[in-house]
Amino acid sequence: MTMRVEATSPVVLRNGVAVTIRPLAEDDRIELARFGKSLPEDDALYLEDDLSDPNIINRLINAYAAENWRQMVAVRDNGEVVAYSAVRKLVGWSSHVGDIQLMVGKEFRRSGLGTEMAKAIFESARGLGVAKVIVEMLAVQVSGRAIFERLGFSREGIFSKHAHDRHGNRHDLVVMAYHVM
Ligand SMILES: CC(C)(COP(=O)(O)OP(=O)(O)OC[C@H]1O[C@@H](n2cnc3c(N)ncnc32)[C@H](O)[C@@H]1OP(=O)(O)O)[C@@H](O)C(=O)NCCC(=O)NCCS
Repeated sequence: MTMRVEATSPVVLRNGVAVTIRPLAEDDRIELARFGKSLPEDDALYLEDDLSDPNIINRLINAYAAENWRQMVAVRDNGEVVAYSAVRKLVGWSSHVGDIQLMVGKEFRRSGLGTEMAKAIFESARGLGVAKVIVEMLAVQVSGRAIFERLGFSREGIFSKHAHDRHGNRHDLVVMAYHVM
């Protein structure tokens, strides 16, 4: 069994707002759904999971204590969720690999929150005991790249026309990785 890292960290962002970065909890359902619905349509086109879909929100909330999954949220004092990140252990011959997802609310971008969330989920990935961490993004999603490069990730490959957006257009998928051990 892997040890759970349940760290909570208060952070004051570059925009002056204080948030707490902590594990997703069962009673975050309403605020997580609100966050999902607030994401720009452009993001919804490109994200792997559609957080505006109540079924996806239920799946994430139901997995809040799952053995192979760690989920973190950034929450304001009023309970508003302003960012979400997750790392999930893959299965089968990739069961030593953790796959990261990260998204920050539109109003909170370029304030350092993506970087803080990435650091927090990276720590959770270490807690999961994975030997390698990957993050996948469409080639058009340039904003995530700098964050993971700064954390020491490097580009491992591009899968050509591997992902399709909600309009059915196919995109190249970039895989960045960090080898923990
Ligand atoms: C990617 C994302 C998480 C970044 O969140 P953020 O809170 O804006 O990140 P930060 O403020 O910590 O920015 C870190 C660095 O990333 C780079 N960056 C962020 N947004 C950028 C943009 N739109 N264009 C170019 N570079 C960008 C910058 O180098 C920035 O550093 P700086 O502000 O000091 O110049 C956010 O844009 C997002 O949720 N996008 C949609 C989902 C996504 O693409 N996720 C990543 C793949 S999993």
